[in-house]
Amino acid sequence: MPQMVSFFNATGGAASAAVALIEFTKNPGQALLVTLLGLVVGSIAFSGSMVAYGKLDGKVGDIFAKFMTYLNLFFMLLIVVIILLVLFGGFDQITVSYLVYGLLVLSLIYGVSFVMPIGGADMPVVISLLNSLTGIAAAMAGFIYQNEAMILGGILVGAAGTILTLQMCKAMNRSLINVIIGAFGGGGASHADVQGSIKEITLSDAAVLLSYSQKVVIIPGYGLAVAQAQHIAHELDSLLESKGVEVKYAIHPVAGRMPGHMNVLLAEADVPYEQLVEMDDINPDMPNVDVAIVVGANDVVNPAAYDDPGSPIYGMPIIDAHLAKNIIIMKRGMGKGYAGIENFLFFNDKTRMLFGDAKKSITSLVNEIKSM
Ligand code: TAP
Repeated sequence: MPQMVSFFNATGGAASAAVALIEFTKNPGQALLVTLLGLVVGSIAFSGSMVAYGKLDGKVGDIFAKFMTYLNLFFMLLIVVIILLVLFGGFDQITVSYLVYGLLVLSLIYGVSFVMPIGGADMPVVISLLNSLTGIAAAMAGFIYQNEAMILGGILVGAAGTILTLQMCKAMNRSLINVIIGAFGGGGASHADVQGSIKEITLSDAAVLLSYSQKVVIIPGYGLAVAQAQHIAHELDSLLESKGVEVKYAIHPVAGRMPGHMNVLLAEADVPYEQLVEMDDINPDMPNVDVAIVVGANDVVNPAAYDDPGSPIYGMPIIDAHLAKNIIIMKRGMGKGYAGIENFLFFNDKTRMLFGDAKKSITSLVNEIKSM
């Protein structure tokens, strides 16, 4: 899906840039500002989205060097200068045409160099940003044709994309600039700072604990998506509910790698919508929860967000799994999450680890509960 979204987005950008170029060739002096903006924004959206497509498909790797930040700033400045020259330079038509073709090439190159250094997991933010650029480019094309439907549609896409981009950044507690030019991850407290030890739980102990609980909250994360454990998670919640246990899912806005990732996965598994509770609504109830089951989530339950000012996720809102009476964590090993940092929750006295692939672990747990 994300690849296809990127590809369609690229075609939208290309179409808007083509409209601008054709109109410039047909009527060189008319609606020059919107034509130039449509050409620039559409071309950046096209080449940037194609690179995003390649990255998501594993065909293009991340290339990051500090000088690229300066190079991108230089490209941006050059684009602005050329636009000003075309508008106010008073050049003859042939020179203006060369400048406009130069602008097209430069914008295409800028689209590539702008997306190239952005890290794999920041891609959803970039795709959303490129999507809003395509909307803006379409709106520019609408201005050229004086077509209200195109203007309105473009502005809607542009505004929605911008809002979504900013919301994603807010939920990760990062600025848009940081996503675009900053390499993310690492830092914060290390393993050496951790107090406490890792304690495992057996399947039969987990089965007993869950079956005799009153309130259970499942906290899904990226690992649930990787393991495709949504269907078996729903089987687990139905099984527990049939035993009189109340089961809810706690949904963090940036759990996984896509906006609404967990909602989509759980909806696909037919988990009733009423069982999905947003982070802000479930957090006040976490101290009353008998067991929090963390399935392939890491950063979104990391208390470093509250108490480690040196952590890259400091200040990011999290699901308060640490407040539950018992915590079961399902993951394959001690692998880090997207932020690449240690998670003290794993060392909490109330925490028990159930190591293994999430789908396999939940399947075994379901069988264990059934056999009780
Ligand atoms: P993460 O912090 O990325 O942690 C995922 C965990 O899943 C890993 O620690 C990994 O540990 C485990 N895992 C991987 N495969 C597994 C499997 N097959 N079975 C069981 N566990 C598995 O996930 P999260 O808590 O959902 O946080 C999301 C992160 O992505 C946040 O930092 C967020 O800011 C970032 N992000 C989100 C978005 C959106 S829009 N959702 C966009 C960009 C970035 P093991 O390797 O030990 O198994």
